[in-house]
Amino acid sequence: MVSRIIPVEPFDLVVFGGTGDLARRKILPALFRRFCSGQMPDGSKVVGAARSALSSEAYRATVSTALKEFAGELALDDAQVAEFCEHVDYVAVDARGEGGWSELAALLTPGSVRAFYFSVGPGVFSDLAKGLKRHGLVEDDTRIVVEKPFGHDLESAQALNSELAQYFDEGQIYRIDHYLGKETVQNLMAVRFGNMLFEPLWNAQYIDHIQITVAETVGVAGRGDYYEKSGAMRDMVQNHLMQLLCLIAMEPPAQFEPDAVRDEKLKVIRALDNVQPHHIVRGQYTAADGAAAYREDVDNARSKTESFVALKCQVNNWRWAGTPFYLRTGKRLSARDSEITVVFKDTPHSIFGPEAGRHRNELNIQLQPNEGITLNVTIKEPGPGGMRLVDVPLDMSFAEALGPSAEGTPDAYERLIMDVIRGNQTLFMRDDEVEAAWAWTDPIIRGWEARGDVPKPYDAFSDGPDDAELMMRRDARAWRGLDK
Ligand code: BG6
Repeated sequence: MVSRIIPVEPFDLVVFGGTGDLARRKILPALFRRFCSGQMPDGSKVVGAARSALSSEAYRATVSTALKEFAGELALDDAQVAEFCEHVDYVAVDARGEGGWSELAALLTPGSVRAFYFSVGPGVFSDLAKGLKRHGLVEDDTRIVVEKPFGHDLESAQALNSELAQYFDEGQIYRIDHYLGKETVQNLMAVRFGNMLFEPLWNAQYIDHIQITVAETVGVAGRGDYYEKSGAMRDMVQNHLMQLLCLIAMEPPAQFEPDAVRDEKLKVIRALDNVQPHHIVRGQYTAADGAAAYREDVDNARSKTESFVALKCQVNNWRWAGTPFYLRTGKRLSARDSEITVVFKDTPHSIFGPEAGRHRNELNIQLQPNEGITLNVTIKEPGPGGMRLVDVPLDMSFAEALGPSAEGTPDAYERLIMDVIRGNQTLFMRDDEVEAAWAWTDPIIRGWEARGDVPKPYDAFSDGPDDAELMMRRDARAWRGLDK
C-alpha cells in the first residue's frame, strides 16, 4: 500500500505548556513522527513556551528525552532526533504579564501558518488569548488549539467560549477531542457512509440496541487532583463517548466538511433524552489484585467521585426512537478495550423452529487495541443432525487486512495537529457542540450532587459494579464481554 503524505505549508507551532505532561507524552512525539514522515517543511518551527526560565538548548534536551521515552522506535535514531530538535526553540512567557511576548514574536516567521497550542489548564486560556492579541501575534488565519477539559459545566464552557470569541473567530478555534483523531473512529464514518451495506439497516427498525464501551485498566494515580473534580462523567462521557455516539447516530452529512459534519453531530446531542436516575450506574474502584483503591489514589477517604459510569440513553428522533444506546466507561477495569457494538434485531420469523435457538447479527467495531471490525453472521453448523445454527465472525483485523500501512497509521495527535496546520476543522468540536454536550451532562451530575449519591464499589480489575449488569438484565440484554 502506498503511503500518501499530504504536503503542508511551513508552519510555526507554539506549545504553551511546552514542558508539561501532555506536551512530552503526546504533542512533541506526534510532531516528531510527522517530521520523520516528511511533514515538517523547511522553515517550520516548534516553540515550547512555559513559565520557567529555560534556555532553548536545555529545552531541546528535555524534548529529546521525551522523544526517547514516548516516540517509539523512530526516536532510537539519534541523528533524526537531533535534526528535529534543530526546529525547536523555547521562550519563557508570563501569560498574565508582559514577560516573553516580544521574544516569542521575534521567533515567528511572517507568512508561515501560525498555530498556538494551549496545553494548559482552562484557567489560563483567556489570558493567553488576550496576550496573543495584545502583543500583535495574531494574523488573520492564526489558529489556537484548546485541550479538554473545556469547562466543567455548561456555564463555564459558555464563559470560555465567549472569552475566546473576544479574540478569535470560531474558524480559528480548534477544540481537541483526541478520540476524533483515532483512525478507527474516523473509520466509523467510512464504514457507515462508504458502504451501501449498512446504512439502509442503520435505524430503529433493524437495530435492537447499540453499546459503546471505553474500558481502561489504568487508575487515576498521578492525576488525582484533576480527576476528583471531574469523575468519569466529565472526563470521558461528556466528550469522548458523546463524540462516538454522535458519529454512530448522526444523519449522513452532505459532505465530509467541517460544518456539515458538526451540524449533524449537534442534532444528535440535542435529540438525547434526559437520562433517568435508574438508567445510570456510577461506580468507584476498590483495592484488589495489588492495586490501591480509588480513594487512596486520590487521597480522599470520603470521595464520592465516580471512576465508572454505565448509562442508557435514547436519541429521540425518527431514526432512533425505540433503540437504546448503552454507554459504559471506567478505570481499573479488567481490560483495556474500546469498542462499539451494533446489535441487530432478530429475524421477524424463524423458519428453523425454536430448536435453532436465537441468533442475531452483531457488528463490532474495535477501536483499541487491535483495531478492526467483526460482523457476526448466522450459518448452519456443519455436519449432520438437522438444521443447527451457529454465529461466526466475518473478521477484519486492520493490521492483518492492511499490513504495515495499518500499523504505521498516525496516532490521534499526529492527525489532529496536521489538520490544524491544514486548517481543517472537521474533527474538532464547535462551540455549540461542546455547550450542548454540557447541557445534557449537567442535570445528571446535579442530580447526583442533590441526592448525595455515593458510587457503587467495584473491585479493581473487575468488569465494574454489578448494578451495571443488572441495568442491562432488566432490559433482557447483556453487555458484550470485555476483550481480555
Ligand atoms: C483522556 C482522559 O481524555 O483520555 C483520561 O482524561 C483517559 O482519563 C484518556 O485515560 C483515554 O485516552 P486513550 O486514548 O488512552 O483511550
